[in-house]
Amino acid sequence: TEMDIDASAYDAGDHESYMHKEMLEQPVTAQAVLRGRLDERFGTAHLGGLDMDARDLRAVRRVKILGCGSAYYVGQMGAALIEELARIPADAEAASEFRYRDPVIEPDTLYVAVSQSGETIDTLLAVQEVRRKGGRCVGLVNVVGSAIARECDGGIYLHAGPEVAVASTKALTNMFLGFALLALQLGRVRDLSIADGKRLVAGLEKLPGQIEEILAGEDDLVAVAKSLAEARSLFFIGRVRGFPVAREGAQKFKEISYRHAEAYQTSELKHGPLALIDPEVPTVALVPRDELTERNIGALHEIDARQGPLVVITHAEVDLGEIGARRIDVPRNEPELDPILLTIPLQLLAYHAAQHLGHDIDKPRNLAKSVTVE
Ligand code: G6P
Repeated sequence: TEMDIDASAYDAGDHESYMHKEMLEQPVTAQAVLRGRLDERFGTAHLGGLDMDARDLRAVRRVKILGCGSAYYVGQMGAALIEELARIPADAEAASEFRYRDPVIEPDTLYVAVSQSGETIDTLLAVQEVRRKGGRCVGLVNVVGSAIARECDGGIYLHAGPEVAVASTKALTNMFLGFALLALQLGRVRDLSIADGKRLVAGLEKLPGQIEEILAGEDDLVAVAKSLAEARSLFFIGRVRGFPVAREGAQKFKEISYRHAEAYQTSELKHGPLALIDPEVPTVALVPRDELTERNIGALHEIDARQGPLVVITHAEVDLGEIGARRIDVPRNEPELDPILLTIPLQLLAYHAAQHLGHDIDKPRNLAKSVTVE
């Protein structure tokens, strides 16, 4: 496609860094992964590259997602989507651990390798482990013709275009959208209703514009990011759909700001880390409008009572009452698609924290864009 342009012809242009450019490209690149794959009439997706017909898709009993770093966390978001929409048990595992535990490979499990570069050695070796034992592995890969793409039985190309910054933004967004398409197709050959299918297709079509809306609010986030950058340690919390978002948010923050950031399930706070909350330790909380909002707000009260600084990523209709928090509202879509909209402000916060600290954002110390050696 037109997105698969030569990386040598790609530069940061007027942007201060590739990461900034890549974040801002997301409304356009998000359209590229959806293009030609949504079916409004039947409320489903078409993923020809999977090379699986309806019968093959029906035969899938379990989904196992494999990836490293951000690809692993977005894999957890994808697993939740697949379980919710297709009602197939699904989970994600760090590809770097997978082969070392001599995993049981089952013929009716669909393995999904997720990778921006398609060259991460740990993910490649996990794919080989699956295929050596006769399993079917498909890829969610950005780089066309890369090692992982070639090794897989089929897959979904992400069409995000070249990504240079170590911290993944536009590729990660397209990974999420790739999972949404897969979940939709798996769901619609099973029990997901046409009404739900259409609801999600409409939601996906709306997403690129909503991502643009969040990015347009960038300037309002700079002051919050600076205050977070001053903390030595911080928490990112979320529940169920929001927990992998918290993990990805903490990862981004660590990678480029070099601050200790830990992700926790909001529900687990009271079982340990609440002991660490004080005015020096900020918490970034994900509180979408969903079935857990009231419980999440209960946890915010616990943090507020200990004077823990709070940044809450939420929806405009959520009432935080008396809680002293900096709130960042994201647009509402279908609740299943919330994770990606909640992720965008976390990218901006990590970016501006690192910028404030004067770090090399595109090439953080000790990290490589793709790790191709064991
Ligand atoms: C490296 C990078 C991470 C990235 C991971 C997976 O560790 O530093 O930012 O998420 O590899 O890369 P991949 O190309 O497989 O998505």
